Amino acid sequence: MTTHESRVFSGVQPTGNLHLGNYLGAITKFVALQESHECLYCVVDLHAITVWQEPAGLEHNIREVTATFIASGIDPKAHIIFNQSRVSGHAELAWILNCVARMGWLNRMTQFKEKAGKHRENASVGLFSYPNLMAADILLYRATHVPVGDDQKQHLELSRDIAQKFNSDFAKSIAAHGFDETFFPLPEPLITGPATRVMSLRDGTAKMSKSDPSDMTRINLMDDAETIAKKFRKARTDPEPLPGEEAGLKDRPEAENLVGIYAALAGVPRASVLQEFGGGQFSRFKEALTEVAVEKLAPVSAETKRLMDDPAHIDAILSDGAARAHAIADPILRQTKQVIGLLTD
Ligand code: TYM
Repeated sequence: MTTHESRVFSGVQPTGNLHLGNYLGAITKFVALQESHECLYCVVDLHAITVWQEPAGLEHNIREVTATFIASGIDPKAHIIFNQSRVSGHAELAWILNCVARMGWLNRMTQFKEKAGKHRENASVGLFSYPNLMAADILLYRATHVPVGDDQKQHLELSRDIAQKFNSDFAKSIAAHGFDETFFPLPEPLITGPATRVMSLRDGTAKMSKSDPSDMTRINLMDDAETIAKKFRKARTDPEPLPGEEAGLKDRPEAENLVGIYAALAGVPRASVLQEFGGGQFSRFKEALTEVAVEKLAPVSAETKRLMDDPAHIDAILSDGAARAHAIADPILRQTKQVIGLLTD
């Protein structure tokens, strides 16, 4: 039994081109959870540098993710928005967890295999140990719930394994110090809704991703209405009309993807999208899809731009968020060190 209170943590990398997948799979969930939970939303700049980032571009992207969080409706006063590198406990705990996680566990991570590709020997060591830093992000706050897209599921499972191994490796010391036996609660992934895996607009079997060389595969949050319309118009589909029921989406990945996107944007179940558009041609559906996408995204991009005009304001929010994050993290890191047998102040 855990006695920990519920706390939400999640992160987004400042690597440029935030897209509809990030928005529907993660950011809209972040917004919704504010009602019910204490939330920390982190711009994970230390994760970003596991692959090369131009320094000036990185600064810009850290501010842009922050601005997008706020423009999407995250309240930086009621909750915490900060950039990861400002709270040194992330890197410190990551080192400790590097010594808990096993090579074999990390060797199984599919995202490393995808990202490193054929050039494994040339990948940074940081890219390999990336999931340990992610576990540190979560455990540093004893977060209990982590909203993410489907692609982060395996990393979340690893975070749970690491938490469990820490709790059991140090069980005696945890008890001797009088701490709760679930020293680190096992974080629950929150992967829900019709858009946990938004796919490429050009290939319904590939994930929508910021690293795809073709911009036509994704809707970027900063795209204007005309670009959004063009991308949906050119989105790949099959020759059949839309089905009337969900079963009819089987083996039609492009149709399934567009229906899922519409459902998530409009906040309705997929079945009701099919009730409305089933039997009709894709062209009409794509027009309606463009309309709902522009209606939802235009205010977010306009507000992001407005906030980006005042970088000092964004920096003040990040600085305040980091101070509040520190206040939660510091005692947890201190207890962690005590449990391990490291002398602290
Ligand atoms: P990142 O920056 O790649 O993506 C941010 C969030 O967007 C989700 N996402 C998607 N959801 C649906 N469809 C897609 N096509 C799609 N593409 C991306 C991701 O699942 C993610 O939720 N490792 C994380 C960042 C991270 C983190 C953490 C998350 C670092 N520390 C601690 C949670 C907790 C990442 O690379 O996200």
